Amino acid sequence: MLLPSPARTCELLFGCSPWPLGISLVVLVLGKRNRFSMKPASTSALLGALVAVTVEAAPTVDELYPYTGPKVPVGDWVDPTVKGNGKGFVRLVEPPAVKPASSNPTNNINVISISYVPSGINIHYQTPYGLGESPSVVWGSSASELSKTATGKTVTYGRTPSCSTAVTTQCSEFFHDVQITNLKPGTTYYYQIPAANGTTASDVLSFKTANEAGDSSAFTIAVINDMGYTNAAGTYKYLNEAIDGGAAFIWHGGDISYADDWYSGLLPCQSDWPVCYNGTSTQLPGGTVPKEYDTPLPSGEVPNQGGPQGGDMSVLYESNWDLWQQWMNPITLKAPHMVLPGNHEASCAEFDGPGNVLTAYLNEDKANGTAAKSSLTYYSCPPSQRNFTAFQNRFRMPGDETGGVGNFWYSFDYGLAHFVSLDGETDYPNSPEWPFAKDVKGNQTHPFANQTYVTDSGPFGSVDGSYKDKTAYAQYQWLKKDLESVDRCKTPWVIAMSHRPFYSSQVSSYQAAIRAAFEDLMLENGVDLYLSGHIHWYERLLPLRSNGTIDEVSVINNNTYWTNPGVSMAHIINGAAGNIESHSTLGSDPLLNITTYLDQTNYGFGGLTVHNATTLSWSYIHGSDGTEGDKLTLLKRSASAGTCSSTSSSSAVVSSVLSTATSTSASIAVSVSVPSEATTVTEVVTSYTTYCPGSTVFTAGSSTYTVTEATTLTITDCPCTLTHTVSNGATITSESLLVTVTTAAESAAGSSVNTNWNTTVPTGGASPATTTGGILAPTVPVSSSGYRVIALPSLSSVLLVLLLSW
Ligand SMILES: [Fe+2]
Repeated sequence: MLLPSPARTCELLFGCSPWPLGISLVVLVLGKRNRFSMKPASTSALLGALVAVTVEAAPTVDELYPYTGPKVPVGDWVDPTVKGNGKGFVRLVEPPAVKPASSNPTNNINVISISYVPSGINIHYQTPYGLGESPSVVWGSSASELSKTATGKTVTYGRTPSCSTAVTTQCSEFFHDVQITNLKPGTTYYYQIPAANGTTASDVLSFKTANEAGDSSAFTIAVINDMGYTNAAGTYKYLNEAIDGGAAFIWHGGDISYADDWYSGLLPCQSDWPVCYNGTSTQLPGGTVPKEYDTPLPSGEVPNQGGPQGGDMSVLYESNWDLWQQWMNPITLKAPHMVLPGNHEASCAEFDGPGNVLTAYLNEDKANGTAAKSSLTYYSCPPSQRNFTAFQNRFRMPGDETGGVGNFWYSFDYGLAHFVSLDGETDYPNSPEWPFAKDVKGNQTHPFANQTYVTDSGPFGSVDGSYKDKTAYAQYQWLKKDLESVDRCKTPWVIAMSHRPFYSSQVSSYQAAIRAAFEDLMLENGVDLYLSGHIHWYERLLPLRSNGTIDEVSVINNNTYWTNPGVSMAHIINGAAGNIESHSTLGSDPLLNITTYLDQTNYGFGGLTVHNATTLSWSYIHGSDGTEGDKLTLLKRSASAGTCSSTSSSSAVVSSVLSTATSTSASIAVSVSVPSEATTVTEVVTSYTTYCPGSTVFTAGSSTYTVTEATTLTITDCPCTLTHTVSNGATITSESLLVTVTTAAESAAGSSVNTNWNTTVPTGGASPATTTGGILAPTVPVSSSGYRVIALPSLSSVLLVLLLSW
C-alpha cells in the first residue's frame, strides 16, 4: 500500500508569506492516487472574508516525523544581502527578468520562462511575493496591439528560507502560470506581464508556437543535461547563440540547477569524487577550511566559470534555484524550456561526506559537527526541500494536458517529430529514488524515519498493483498509450528522453532497472533515438537491440545509422552541459564495444535537427569554442509522411528484405521503397568507405578483403561500381552495393585470394586530428598499404552511403 498524500492548500492575500502563518488549510488526500495532483483551493470558513486570490500550494510531502535540522539551513549564517557581510559567502547575483522601476522594489518579476502546451504556450513567471490577483498577461499578434488578456494560476510552497529574508530581486517564492491556447502553429505572438502588487511590468516580449504536427519544415532544437551553472558558461554561451540562431526550443533532461549541491562547498572531499569542489572560503560556521580544498582542479577546469560574480556555490538550496533560473532568463525568455526530472531535483541532499558532517548538521542542528554514521533520511531536509517540490513549482510542463503527470512525464509534437519526456527517477520498479512502499517491512504501512532515505520520492502517478510490477505504474501505461497512438504519418520521428541512460560504458544497476521498465515499449513502438544524461560525459552508442547487442545492419558508417523500427534504436548520453561535479571518468573500466564515441573532457550540449521525414542529424557542440565534437545522422529507409499506412508495416518489409539479403547474398542488392522524387545513381568510384559489422571476407574491385571483426574500411583498390540513391539533395532512401562476397569457408578453401588488408577508421570516434576530447573505441589492428580515405560529399550536397549486409 502506498502512502496517503497530504496536500497543502492556502489562500493568500497580497503576498503573505505562506509558511507557516496559520492561514494554511491542510487537506488530506486519502488513497494512493497521484501524489502530484493538487486539489483546487476551496473557500474556507477560516479564511472567510480574506479570500480574494487563489494560490495553490505545492504537492506536499510526508511530515509524519518532524524536521530536526536548523531552522534555515546555513541561511541563518549567511548575510542575505548581495555583497554579504564578510563572514560568509558572497551572494551570487544575476539580474532579474524584469528590471524594477525603483531601486528598492517591494516585489518583482525575477524569472520568466515559456514552455509548450498543446496548441499554445505557458508563460511562467516568478515573484518573491504574491500578486494580490490572478496572474495575467496581455497579448496579441503584434507588439503594438496587445488587446487580449489571459489569466492563470499561482502556486507556492514553504520555501526555506522565505523570501522575506532576502533581497527582492534575488528571490522567488510565488510561481505564476498563464496559458494561452488555440493559437496558430509556428506563429509569433507578443505579450506583456502587467504590474501587480509592487512588480514592474515586463517589456513587450514574444514567443513562437510549435510547428504543427506534420509540418515538414526543418527545425533544430538544443538538448542539455546536467547543467547547473558552475562549469557551464561555455554551454550557456553557445546555447544562447543557438537560440538566437533559430533553435526552436530547449529540451533539458534533468539535473537542472544542482541546487542540492549547496553543501558541496561545506564538506570535505571524498576520495571517490572526481574532483574537489574547491571552495575558496567555504566552511561551516566556526569551522576551518579543510585542507582537502587545496586540491587543485584538473587542467582546464574553471571552478568559478559559471558563478556569475565569482565564488563557487550559493550555500542556500533555494538561492541556487533562484540564481540558476535568473541566469537562464535570457534563454528561457526567448525559447520554450522543456524540462524533465533528474536526481538532483529530488531533495536538499543526496549523500553525506566524511565525518557525516551533513548528518550532524541536518539531523541534529550541529554546525561543524560529526556523526557516528550517515543517517540522512527523508526527514533530514526541510519539508519544502523534499519530494521534487522545487522542481514541481518552478516549471510548468504539459503533463496534465497530455495524459501524463505534471513535469514528470509528458509528450509533445513539433513538425515531423514526437518528443517524449520521461521520469527516470521514480515511478517504475527499482527506480533510483525509492517510494516509501519499498522502505517498509512486514506489515508496515508507513516506514519509520530511519527506514527512509533522503531522496525518497513519489510515486507521482498511480500504482495500481504491486510496486514491483512495471505495468502497475501510470507512467508505464501512459508511455504505452502515448507511443501506440503516435501518428507516424505526421511525426515519423519519435525521440524519447529521461535522465537515466539505458546503457553506457559506465555500467550501473539503475540502467538495468530503467531498461526493464521502458526499453521494450520503446523498441516495439519504433522510438528512433533515446537521449539521456546523468553520467557527466558525452557518449554515443551504436544502435542497440533490446539486450544491448549491436544492431550491425543499421550501422552505415561511423557517423550514420539507419533507424530500424521494432529492432533497435540509437542512444546518446549527453550529460556534460556543465555542473559543479565535473566530469565522470572511465577510470580503469573498459570501454564497451557498444560505445562509438566518448568525450570525458569537454562540456557542451546537443543540437538536434530534423531535416525531413527521413533524415535527422545530431551534433555535440563544445562549450569551449562552439565547434562540433561529434555528429550522427539517422536515416529512415522510407518516408512515412504522405505514404504511410503504418510505419511498422513498411519497416517490416525493409527488415525482411535485409534479412533475405543477409542470409543469401553473394550479390547484395537491398531493395527498399524509394520515393518518387529519389534519384538512383550508379557510378564508378576510385575508393569508398564502408562499415563491416563483423568477421567476413568479400571482394570489391580487384581485391578480396578479410575482416576479422567489426570495423570501418576505406576501400582504395578500385574502380568499384556503386549504386546509391539521392533524394532532395540530402536524403538517402536506399543504397545498394553490388559486390561479390566470399564466405570465410570459401576463403579458407582457397577459392579467393586474400590480398591487401585495407585501412581502418576505428569503429568509435572521429579522428583525433579533427576532434579534441573524444577518445576512440578499440581499433582493429591491420596493416595498410597505400590506402587513402575517400572524401565524402557533405550532407548538404550528396550523401554517399553504402549498405553492406552480411
Ligand atoms: Fe544525475
